[in-house]
Amino acid sequence: LACRNAQAMDHFFRRKRVGLLKPLLSLSLVFASFLMIHKLKLAEKDGVGGKHTREPGWCGSECFSFKKGVVKTSLGSSDSSVLNNDLDAQRVSNGTPASWDAQVLNCSEDASVRSQDWFRRLDPRFHQFVLHRHCRYFPMLINHPEKCTDGEVHLLMVVKSVIEQHDRREAVRKTWGKEHTVDGKRIKTLFLLGSPTTGKDTKNLQKLIEYEDRIYGDILQWDFMDTFFNLTLKEVNFLKWFDIYCSGVRFIFKGDDDVFVNTHNLLELIGFKVEERKYAELFVGDTISKAIPIRNRQSKYYIPKELYDKPYPPYVGGGGFLMSSPLARRLFVVSEDLELYPIDDVFLGMCLQKLHLAPELHPGFRTFGITRRRVSPMNSEPCFYKNLIVVHKLSAHELLRMWSVVHNEELVCAQRTSI
Ligand SMILES: *[C@@H]1O[C@H](CO)[C@@H](O)[C@H](O)[C@H]1NC(C)=O
Ligand SMILES: *[C@@H]1O[C@H](CO)[C@@H](O)[C@H](O)[C@H]1NC(C)=O
Repeated sequence: LACRNAQAMDHFFRRKRVGLLKPLLSLSLVFASFLMIHKLKLAEKDGVGGKHTREPGWCGSECFSFKKGVVKTSLGSSDSSVLNNDLDAQRVSNGTPASWDAQVLNCSEDASVRSQDWFRRLDPRFHQFVLHRHCRYFPMLINHPEKCTDGEVHLLMVVKSVIEQHDRREAVRKTWGKEHTVDGKRIKTLFLLGSPTTGKDTKNLQKLIEYEDRIYGDILQWDFMDTFFNLTLKEVNFLKWFDIYCSGVRFIFKGDDDVFVNTHNLLELIGFKVEERKYAELFVGDTISKAIPIRNRQSKYYIPKELYDKPYPPYVGGGGFLMSSPLARRLFVVSEDLELYPIDDVFLGMCLQKLHLAPELHPGFRTFGITRRRVSPMNSEPCFYKNLIVVHKLSAHELLRMWSVVHNEELVCAQRTSI
């Protein structure tokens, strides 16, 4: 939680300097657009952009999906590649759609809560959340139904990001989120995004993200505002998406765009679990047990009594965790019966509890507390990173640097570092 508080502080300072920040942001956006367009040209020239084959006259990722008839049509899909797949066909007969079925943004507020006593007492920060709590699935602005269709994917890296964090996505793509095959095991990557929040340069941001996706083909975007309290929407919309489109995936790593992941150690952990045959219910990370809601109003994670008044179930810090694909499907099923909770990692803990499962604590996942003392020598100690699986939290620049140091063959680490 320490780093969460640090985040809150960041946020606080950002607000104070907003007068200076705005022109800076616009400026950097213009610059970023330039870069993106330049890259796009380069990519087209040497064919890097050809992650998925496109017809000539391509008109944006949205259009790409629509053309293939995968996003828009539901049961009567004409896309044979989807229906020919046994699992997808089964799903059709089970009544679950074979494609994303939320097509209209229908999220009017639930006015009935306004008249209730507890709502009037509730901290106003939570009004918006409570009024829209019933809105769960949203239309997709960018979809990649083809992501997991061509054969088995061993590990799907799923990264929560927001449109503005372009440089972090770049760093992840170059490091732990690089799509490649290790010993015949394929790794694929997806970034989860919402839509720009109002008040920002919505149109240009949207254009930028579409360009970016055209180059890399690794973005899923839903039409809900990318706010802090909407993070749980990212969780449930992804679980549903996964259930529809990703029958051929074995494991999911889910994390933030500002973590360091030691892919090699992560694969090794999966290997151990597979060997032990203990992977069907695998859910492992930085587990927090016996936590209670934070009642300090200054905290970003403050939860008023009116909203929740029990201890939390054991849950895993959202910075990075590993789960098996069968468990992700079961989580999707139980999630549909649970009211949305404003903190996404706690919400997943509630889903696990409903399945009578507890997440497994693994010391290799360090998603809390590392940066409590920013000057801690551990933060710049490569052997520390070499021996762990996930470390929170790094800037894009620090991630790139640490990645190259850790992967330098001359780096010798005497023993497993433990702190
Ligand atoms: C939107 O949702 C409300 C409440 O759930 C429902 O009454 C209404 O018919 C819906 N509108 C559309 C266009 O689906
Ligand atoms: C979440 O997103 C929806 C759709 O954009 C929006 O109506 C709602 O106000 C957002 N909720 C919060 C708490 O920001």
